[in-house]
Amino acid sequence: MHPDIERILISEEEVDSIITRIAAEIDRDYAGDDKRLLLLCVLKGSVVFMGELMKKLTVPVEIDFMKVSSYGSGTKTGGKVNIVLDLLRQDLDTCDILIVEDIIDSGRTLSYLCNYLTLKGAKSVKTVTLLDKPSRREVDFTPDYHGTVIPDYFVVGYGLDYAERYRALPFVGILKPEVYTHH
Ligand code: PRP
Repeated sequence: MHPDIERILISEEEVDSIITRIAAEIDRDYAGDDKRLLLLCVLKGSVVFMGELMKKLTVPVEIDFMKVSSYGSGTKTGGKVNIVLDLLRQDLDTCDILIVEDIIDSGRTLSYLCNYLTLKGAKSVKTVTLLDKPSRREVDFTPDYHGTVIPDYFVVGYGLDYAERYRALPFVGILKPEVYTHH
């Protein structure tokens, strides 16, 4: 445990079994010589999930990275997505992209990225998220694969941060309110 964590929402063991299950689904769907799976990590929060997921896949994978930022905190109405690190490759027409996210909140990031990569000519674009907060949706978005649906708690760990802290915790935990209300 960590002194700033109120309680563990998803334990290390639970996250591991969730990712094992997702990896089996992806393995099944991307088997075959006609597929060229490119895992696209959306920095920074997805790094831990992506690292675990890729180790569990048996189909061949390539990896790449993008970073986006959202004005208006990304979750406020009208939030606009901006590309901070783009995907600089010319072979997208042969890539079956699977965008890897740690969490879906408003839905703006993945909605934007799916449109963007499709317009750039990707062969296919799908999405996987470890955590999903459907109660926070502002745009209609459903991932192709997902780990688990969670209530609207302030969660950190397993890649997720508060002010760049707690990303390295090996579980998903609920942050104590006094940590983010005392400033
Ligand atoms: C988080 C998360 C998703 C996005 C989801 O990233 O990793 O990318 O927000 O929110 P949305 O569904 O409302 O778009 P964040 O902007 O916190 O950056 P980080 O991953 O670098 O922490």
